Amino acid sequence: MSRTSLIDPHGGSLVNRLVSDDQAVQLREEAKSLPKITLSDKQACDLEMIAIGAFSPLEGFVGKADFDSICKNMRTADGVAWPIPITLAVDDDTKASVKAGGRVALHHHDGTLLAVMDVNDIFEHDKKLEIPNVFGTEDEAHPGVAAVMAEGDWLLGGPIHVLTVTPEHEPGEQFTEHRLPPSATRKAFEDKGWKTIAAFQTRNPIHRAHEYLCKCAQEICDGLLIHPLVGETKPGDIPADVRMACYETIIDNYFVDERTLLSVMPAAMRYAGPREAILHALVRQNYGVSHFIVGRDHAGVGDYYGTYDAQNIFDQFEDGDIQVIPLKFEHAAYSLKAQGMVSAKTFPKLEGDQIFLSGTKVREMLARGERPPKEFSREEVADVLITWATAEVPAGA
Ligand code: ADX
Repeated sequence: MSRTSLIDPHGGSLVNRLVSDDQAVQLREEAKSLPKITLSDKQACDLEMIAIGAFSPLEGFVGKADFDSICKNMRTADGVAWPIPITLAVDDDTKASVKAGGRVALHHHDGTLLAVMDVNDIFEHDKKLEIPNVFGTEDEAHPGVAAVMAEGDWLLGGPIHVLTVTPEHEPGEQFTEHRLPPSATRKAFEDKGWKTIAAFQTRNPIHRAHEYLCKCAQEICDGLLIHPLVGETKPGDIPADVRMACYETIIDNYFVDERTLLSVMPAAMRYAGPREAILHALVRQNYGVSHFIVGRDHAGVGDYYGTYDAQNIFDQFEDGDIQVIPLKFEHAAYSLKAQGMVSAKTFPKLEGDQIFLSGTKVREMLARGERPPKEFSREEVADVLITWATAEVPAGA
């Protein structure tokens, strides 16, 4: 497996929607007289992803032609592979205050002016088209479906001009040191001399199966990007700062520094399983990786998706649609007999041999201050989680 240069961004070139300081001064002035929209957390995450080029080739929130085409065909109206529409939904009152052809000011909920947007398109939010296509279900118990159902009934489409992606008043968990935009991860890979790089997406604390996937990928690539999603997640998921402490601990204890890069992805989680796996892969291509790990039930939730749906969906695309290579992994677990991580591909299934633990069971153990078995979680990681789970008021709980 060899490459002579880093992979191209999806669609050909890396988008940058952050304006210069001079433009920012002008936009700040103009914004005073524009209709104001306060973004939801998900929309603010999407705005950052567009601004920094992680959603290249998108330059803004989708218009109607792209929305319809993405929902129906997993392609933009221009035919570029894209699985999930990145939308700016607004309610009736906001819709009444904006005009197609005009501009709006986009604010963080703490009041920070984030961007000015050209409103090219105002159209009905066709949830009946979006939800079943993107999520494969209309069940409102699905967190991604519920999020779209709660959004406004109108969509605004158009390019954005971004002043900042950092909320001024409530900066929250920014992970500044690890918040590398695609241009910076690409530079880091070049500086390290890595040509082939595998990315690992995660929204959970790192356990032994995750570590195994990462190590397998490291055996075949020059480097590994551990790339946790730190944007909006559903209640009940472990807070990003606790997860970051887990990743740092496991890297310190069990990874080779020169072959590992930890950086965060500021996207919101949609729990859209297969379609989100495609989105995750394309975004990582923009960050410069050549390979992307897709394990069991990637980006899934509950029982909505089959174990390998998120792998099989890659076969629906044609050569060249998606340049990043999916590294598809079977369900992995620790085998007592083999004394190591195995999957159905590498070791026969023996009754009672493999260590499987549900998320709920692990949570219960941690809350009692008990470490899960070391075959499931590294002790150092378990200790970080126990400190969080047994704190008087666990953050984000
Ligand atoms: S996800 O929503 O980001 O997919 P999670 O953080 O649990 O959730 O998973 C990160 C990656 O590891 C995904 O590619 C997922 O498919 C994979 N994965 C998680 N657990 C296992 C496992 N036991 N065996 C194989 N792959 C796994």
